[in-house]
Amino acid sequence: MKIISTVSDLSLFLKTNAKGQSLGFVPTMGALHSGHISLIEKALEQNDLVLCSIFVNPTQFNNSDDLEQYPDRIQEDLKALEKAGCHAVFTPTTAEIYPKDYATKKYDFGLLDKVMEGENRPGHFEGVAGVVSRLFDIVKPQKAYFGEKDFQQLAIIKSMVKQEQLKLEIVACPILREADGLAMSSRNLLLQPKSRIAAARIYKRLLQVKKLAPKQSVAQVKAWVERAFEEDNELNLEYFEIVSQSDLQASSSWSEHKEHIACIACYAGSIRLIDNLFLEIN
Ligand code: PAF
Repeated sequence: MKIISTVSDLSLFLKTNAKGQSLGFVPTMGALHSGHISLIEKALEQNDLVLCSIFVNPTQFNNSDDLEQYPDRIQEDLKALEKAGCHAVFTPTTAEIYPKDYATKKYDFGLLDKVMEGENRPGHFEGVAGVVSRLFDIVKPQKAYFGEKDFQQLAIIKSMVKQEQLKLEIVACPILREADGLAMSSRNLLLQPKSRIAAARIYKRLLQVKKLAPKQSVAQVKAWVERAFEEDNELNLEYFEIVSQSDLQASSSWSEHKEHIACIACYAGSIRLIDNLFLEIN
C-alpha cells in the first residue's frame, strides 16, 4: 500500500496509476473501525483502484476540545487499510489541504443544514463540504463512499456535488453496529466504561421507535423518546427528530410521506454520539 502525504506526490501517483482505471475514494478522519473498512471493501468491489484519505479536518469542529480529543491511531489505521487491500492512503498535513492562498468554497444548502447537526454544530457542514470538495478536487474519483450513520452529512455532500456539477457518484453504505447495537464510531474509543454500556441504549430506543410507529403519532413517539432520556442518568439527549429522508425536514405525521428517518444526538459522559434508523411506513 502506497502512503502519500503531499498533493504533488498524490497527483503524480494518480497520473501513473489511475490512468484508464476506475478510482474509488474513501475520505476519513482516521481512528478506523469496521464501518470504515466496510467502505473500503465496497470500494474495492466496485473499482480498480482504491484510495483512502486520513485527515482530521479542523474546520468542521465547532468545539476545540472535541478536536483535541479526537483519537489519533495512524499506525493501527495503516495496518487495517493494508490488511483490507486498500491500494493507497493519503495522509496530508493541514497546510497541504489549506495552503495560504486557498479560498474554501461556499455553498447554499437551503434548509438541509438548518436542522439537527447543522443547528447544533454551527459551521460544521461548511467545514465538511469545504474539505470534501477540496479532497474531490485533488483526487478526482469516479466514486466516493460515505457511511449512513452521518445521514445529514451524506445529504450535504450530495448537494455540494450537485452545486459544483461534479461528475462523480456518491455511494451510501449502511451503518455497522457493535454486538449490543451501538453504531460504530471513532468516538466510541473515548467512552468511559459506564458510558459505553449506557450507549447501547441509543439503538434500543431507536428500535422501540420503529415498533411504536405508526401506532402512535409522531408527537407521541418523540415524547416517549424524550421521557426515556430524561429518566436516563447516563445519557443526555441533544435532539431527537423524525424527518423526511429526502429533505430532512421534520415529519408532522406518518402519512405525510413514506420514507422517514429517526435521528438522534446525545452525550454519553462528555462524548457526543449520533445514530439513526430508517422508518419506512406502508
Ligand atoms: O465523516 C467523516 O469522517 C468526515 O466528516 C469526512 C467526510 C472525512 C470529512 O472530513
